[in-house]
Amino acid sequence: QVNQAELLLFSVPAYACQRRTTLVNHNTALTDALSLLAENAELSEEEGRGVAFRRAAAVLKALPSVVTSMAQLEGLPCLGGHSLRVIRDVLENGASHEAETTKQSERYKALKVLTGIFGVGAKTADRWIREGIHTLQQLRESAQTLNRAQQAGLDHYDDLNQPVSQTEADAIGDIVQKAVACVLPGAQVTLTGGFRRGKDTGHDVDFLITHPEEGREVGLMPKIVSWLESRGFLLYQKTTRNSYLESMDGPGRPASNMDRFERCLSIFKLPDVEPQGTKEGPISAAPQKRWRAVRVDLVVSPISQFAFALLGWTGSKLFERELRRWAGHEKAMSLSSHALHDNTQSRYLRASSEEEIFAHLSLEYIPPSERNA
Ligand code: CTP
Ligand code: MN
Ligand code: MN
Ligand code: MN
Repeated sequence: QVNQAELLLFSVPAYACQRRTTLVNHNTALTDALSLLAENAELSEEEGRGVAFRRAAAVLKALPSVVTSMAQLEGLPCLGGHSLRVIRDVLENGASHEAETTKQSERYKALKVLTGIFGVGAKTADRWIREGIHTLQQLRESAQTLNRAQQAGLDHYDDLNQPVSQTEADAIGDIVQKAVACVLPGAQVTLTGGFRRGKDTGHDVDFLITHPEEGREVGLMPKIVSWLESRGFLLYQKTTRNSYLESMDGPGRPASNMDRFERCLSIFKLPDVEPQGTKEGPISAAPQKRWRAVRVDLVVSPISQFAFALLGWTGSKLFERELRRWAGHEKAMSLSSHALHDNTQSRYLRASSEEEIFAHLSLEYIPPSERNA
């Protein structure tokens, strides 16, 4: 029998963008299980299931203390039957049978290894698995042709699967800053992504670049890339030009949520910045590698769209998804990394800061460190 006086009930709003989610998570046992099932669904191209598990995990991440009984979850949003079964299993048995079984499955393990290659998505990994390729060794020995991104991803697999530290992110930031200052004085570099949210490691480092005078940013990316390339900082890069204007279909609406800024997905060759463990070994050992490969994303935005780009590239991915869902379902607005369109008034709402965008959406301002949904 539940003692009502001792029952700690939680209450959270339905959309992640209405909540403050810090990096302090009191329910990692529950959220790890749900996140694993979300990842498995995404890798299996079951997007709906993936989002459902992500939303459930995000609700638990926002709770102020540890969940100890199912009764405490009464009335919480986004907890569907499947997620509740997973939670019950963890609370009653210390682990989710489904999550553990998934984690041990050959298919999940193969999907993880193969999609761990930069440039390889769920579709490609699935095709390879159906052709009997489950490991990097099997892939290397196979006759599969890899594109340039995948080849670079395979070449630098170990480095790219080792988390990027804040020290390394800072060092990359210094290099990008220097490149930008050289090719366009006055241009500004802003750290985005997980590091802007205060994470102490990341899978990559994300930067947004702009210039305070509208138009001066045009053509900037190729110049930055040339500067970096000529100094040996790039192991791989693929630049895509700005296609925002030509992508408009209908009354000023971009065709999809994908943004269309000039962007560069790259792999940096970063000289060692972390102290290296003293490696004992014979004097004749091969010379030590004195650099590591790091994934870096660069995006250039005109100043008029900067606030939208900053909000859109800071994440988390679920927080972004929830912002767009809130805008569409609750405010009849369309939010992208370029603009906010009020569909009722048929006009764009200007903003020069993230605070103004939250205000347009009638949302309390949530700072980056509390967008870790
Ligand atoms: N993003 C985007 N379009 C892409 C890729 C990413 O708009 N094609 C956005 C994501 O929505 C996210 C941000 O860029 O808001 C950062 O994405 P990513 O680097 O993948 O994730 P992080 O949150 O930075 O996490 P990590 O530390 O793993 O890099
Ligand atoms: Mn807390
Ligand atoms: Mn990132
Ligand atoms: Mn990124």
